[in-house]
Amino acid sequence: MPSESSSPALAALTQHATEARSWALVDLFKQDAQRAPAFSIEAAGLLLDFSKNHLRQETLNLLTDFARERGVETSRDAMLAGERINTSEQRAALHTCLRLPTETSFVFDGHNISADIQAVLSRMSAFAEKIRDGSWKGFTGERITDIVNIGIGGSDLGPAMTCAALRTYAHPDLRLHFLSNVDGHAADALLSSLSPQTTLFIVASKTFTTMETMRNAEAARTWLLQYVQPADLTKHFVAVSTNTDAVREFGIDPVNMFPFWDWVGGRYSIWSAIGLPLLIAIGIDAFREFLAGAHRMDEHFRTAPLRDNMPAILALTGFWYRQFFATTTHLIAPYHQDLHLFPAYLQQLEMESNGKRVTRDGHAVAMPTAPVTWGSVGTNGQHAYFQLLHQGTDLIPVDFIIALKPAHPNKEQHKALLANALAQAEALMCGSASDPSLPPHRVFQGNRPSSMLVLPALDPASLGALIALYEHKTFVQGILWNINSFDQWGVELGKTLANRILDELNDVEPVTSHDSSTANLINRIQQTLKP
Ligand code: F6P
Repeated sequence: MPSESSSPALAALTQHATEARSWALVDLFKQDAQRAPAFSIEAAGLLLDFSKNHLRQETLNLLTDFARERGVETSRDAMLAGERINTSEQRAALHTCLRLPTETSFVFDGHNISADIQAVLSRMSAFAEKIRDGSWKGFTGERITDIVNIGIGGSDLGPAMTCAALRTYAHPDLRLHFLSNVDGHAADALLSSLSPQTTLFIVASKTFTTMETMRNAEAARTWLLQYVQPADLTKHFVAVSTNTDAVREFGIDPVNMFPFWDWVGGRYSIWSAIGLPLLIAIGIDAFREFLAGAHRMDEHFRTAPLRDNMPAILALTGFWYRQFFATTTHLIAPYHQDLHLFPAYLQQLEMESNGKRVTRDGHAVAMPTAPVTWGSVGTNGQHAYFQLLHQGTDLIPVDFIIALKPAHPNKEQHKALLANALAQAEALMCGSASDPSLPPHRVFQGNRPSSMLVLPALDPASLGALIALYEHKTFVQGILWNINSFDQWGVELGKTLANRILDELNDVEPVTSHDSSTANLINRIQQTLKP
């Protein structure tokens, strides 16, 4: 792979971008009546209309040349084949295997991992069914009504986001809760609203060492032990992890543990046993549809040429703005209330994967890498920060996400929602050029890019495809930037320091071994919280 300084494709793109920065989006539409269909892709039931972006056919040719030069296709094939592409941890990234059709076998390290995956899924399904039909009983013989997932990061955001997104598919008598923050206020507020007789805790942690999760699990166990004999804890605690010893040590019988594997990254784990809360909520048939939707997107990603490849195009468009239009953030705007956690989910996926400054071979990356991913549901954002999108000084590309069919009967309200999404995209692009009489403060410059992702409905299959789309987008961008998207060393220093400071907060002696700011704050907390 040529370095950035010797990359012919990047040099051609750089030259092309000089011209592209002067294009008006509205002119691109005037010049090409077929622009919308030409710059749209359909895959796995989803439609991506990326025509309102500063791209021409030539731009796409140059971007896909660059992708090929960076080895996107060979890297994709290496990931899907189970090569250890996470080189800093010597691990494969085989989350796509978790959604292979039941009958497809996949051999990794000489072992058919599909059989393992299906065996765990069968156990999860049998357990979920017992919760759903009420045959799993708590310590007083009552059925479970409340399920609390205790986990953080990938062991929280995936289950929390998907359970919210598929709310309308959920079992009507079960309530799902998510406890992630180590803040005792969160545990206190949740536990005080629950009945110990009818609550089940799922302790979800790949490592089973994460401070936040272990503290919350201990808090939940202490709360429960006020009411139950230790022997009955097993009726109220199960675990999802790769670390059997730590699960046993915590006091959960490995019989009640659902395993996964080190080739599943935390932020790619919703398809594994980490998806147990979702499976309990929606049942095995809908969960299989969710997996199948993701698999359809995997197949599209694997087979479609780059120019017609939805994840690749989403990645290249994002790269184009970050590299040549100096954008620093990317807005995710789902116009669907049930996707309210989707931007937070993507924050971990994209920023933990690609928020990095060294290449896979340890050199400084010579390009800007992941932008800040942010967002919230429409139309709420319109009445908060959209002002800045329309009239601020920064260019912020937007992904609008809409679903054609609502899950409620009020079509008029749904039309109002979708009208707003389309209006925002049009306003961003066209601005107020048609009215030259406006005073400066009322002028919209327009020419601001967005893409529109259209789901037929927010159903399990479409949600699976949507998540897989962004997973692969993230992967492609990692290859374009030549970074390892599958490790997360940037979270380690804070963890180490937090453990050290926690020890110091328990000391009686004043602390002097930090900068004076940190030391003063430690001493102040010590004084306030001393026994
Ligand atoms: O702190 C980062 C991280 O390792 C994430 O990548 C991961 O999803 C999260 O913590 C939780 O980790 P675990 O599942 O091991 O508790």
